[in-house]
Amino acid sequence: MIQSNLSKEDMSSVLSKAFKDKTLFSPDDTAILFYNLNFIQEKISDLQNLFPESALHAIAVKANPLTKILAKMQTFGVGAEVASLPEFHLAEMAGFAPETIVFDSPCKTKSEIEYALKAGVHLNADSFDELDRIGEILKTIRSKSIVGVRINPQVGTGTIKSTSVAGDISKFGIPVNDNREKIIACFLKYDWLTGVHVHIGSQGCPVPLVIEGIRKVLDLALEINERLKLNSAQNRIETFDIGGGLPVSYHPEIQPVSMEQYLAMLKTACPELFNGQFRLITEFGRYIYANSGWVASKVEYVKREPGYTIIMTHVGADLFLRKSYNPADWHHHITVVDKNGNLKTGTDATKYIVAGPLCFASDVIARDLELPVVEEGDYILIHDAGAYTLSMWSRYNSRQMPKVAGYYTENKGFEILKDRETKEDLYEFWS
Ligand code: LLP
Repeated sequence: MIQSNLSKEDMSSVLSKAFKDKTLFSPDDTAILFYNLNFIQEKISDLQNLFPESALHAIAVKANPLTKILAKMQTFGVGAEVASLPEFHLAEMAGFAPETIVFDSPCKTKSEIEYALKAGVHLNADSFDELDRIGEILKTIRSKSIVGVRINPQVGTGTIKSTSVAGDISKFGIPVNDNREKIIACFLKYDWLTGVHVHIGSQGCPVPLVIEGIRKVLDLALEINERLKLNSAQNRIETFDIGGGLPVSYHPEIQPVSMEQYLAMLKTACPELFNGQFRLITEFGRYIYANSGWVASKVEYVKREPGYTIIMTHVGADLFLRKSYNPADWHHHITVVDKNGNLKTGTDATKYIVAGPLCFASDVIARDLELPVVEEGDYILIHDAGAYTLSMWSRYNSRQMPKVAGYYTENKGFEILKDRETKEDLYEFWS
């Protein structure tokens, strides 16, 4: 089983090396996002080794759209799940072959659908109306696309409402409970419809709930295959997209359900997914990236007051939007190192608040935190920051996006994955 979280010792030693590498940290680099590239690669290998070889692992671009990472992903032999036309373009430009791109979005325009069908990517329709649009367009063009339909299994929400999408009411997919026959009628009507898609949420949905959602759509798919078999020997639904949503651990002391365990549970609950009648697609994002990335951010000021201390640092709600706006739902472990990257030890008598640099009160990424004594010039390491961080970057106060650096465990030096935004980039953005 592969390690779930990077250790603070590893991060501290990487940061010490980074400080010595004069080409990496300039005085303006007050925060850097680091990725352990081996870790990402291991997660991918894990997926590829555990699932049947025919499965397409379309990694969610929204979790981490860095083009250098996408280009690496493409060489690892995985695909890309895209949730908008611009993400689609990122995947194309990073070199993903059309048949490895999975286009999900609940708001595709007619021209986006046509573009996708002409390109021949896998397309998951989100609604009855979208299926009708696809039907109209397919009357006018030829397409190699595989088309699936997203079903909302309505198994309920997880612990994080904002990222749960399988409640009774959801903006995603066709709710199954009241539409079963109508869905089956669509398969009868549209002979090009050969796939189903289910994704119930990201983080916060316990694995048994994820599996319950998949099982419910599997039952529907098996019923469709059975009912439509009357006319043909071949199964109508050949592609089953199980989405992503495997929760990760943001607490180094808590062991999450591993991919291996998830797959074992899935095989037990849904054996028909693995008997060869379906080609599987997966859409993991957080599992690949969250624990692979971490941020080193300089402590600019330490404000000591009776009973509490506030650290002012260089990333806040801009990079950790969810944590800042929904603090109860999210957690990032924080470690303190000195200006050379060495771990600080001991516990200060006061509790700490870790505040970002932005001009509003809840720009805070941790409260009531026990830390060693923190001083100006130290760095905080914010753990498990690799997914849905840079991709959700907020432009408020126009701070420049930080540099992103990749490294390998065996210390082959650093690779700049993205340079810190320049003031010219910023001016261009607002122009
Ligand atoms: N497939 C679909 C259709 C999705 O909507 C998502 C995530 C994924 C796959 C990937 O899920 P994962 O394996 O990464 O859990 N931090 C963001 C999370 C939004 C997730 C959106 N969809 C937020 O707070 O809004």
